[in-house]
Amino acid sequence: MDYATLAAQTEEYLKTEPYFAAVLSNISALLMCSLEDLNWAGFYIMRGGRLVVGPFQGKPACIHIAPGKGVCGTSAASDRTIVVPDVHAFPGHIACDSASNSEIVIPLHHGGEVVGVMDIDSPLTGRFSEEDREGLERIAAIIERGICWK
Ligand code: SME
Repeated sequence: MDYATLAAQTEEYLKTEPYFAAVLSNISALLMCSLEDLNWAGFYIMRGGRLVVGPFQGKPACIHIAPGKGVCGTSAASDRTIVVPDVHAFPGHIACDSASNSEIVIPLHHGGEVVGVMDIDSPLTGRFSEEDREGLERIAAIIERGICWK
């Protein structure tokens, strides 16, 4: 499935039900079964000053990540997308699934604040291209516009 189709499907989910648990659960599943060579796709949500695991597909993951820690915490603290071609070369990478070799993390915003991240892992080294970054940032922007966090 291409990113235009994934973006259209994301819009449909949000129109049908904007509640964050419903939207993020279905988007995790959509990404996991539509993009090739993934082993984890999901979300961490900022709660009480740290990231807490949210809806995802894949093996059970670490529950809490402090801002500035790992790829997710670094993305949240610096408010930027991070593409990691080789997680073993990323200082402080948190290995939740030993199968992961590359990763992309995109921050999610609400009211000008980072309120969570989208995290996607692959067993392939260098899995995430510029096209993936653009496509996933587009999906993140759609989520930010339409989601209900409460
Ligand atoms: N690798 C992430 C932790 C989350 S798991 O990949 C699901 C990190 O370094 O922040």
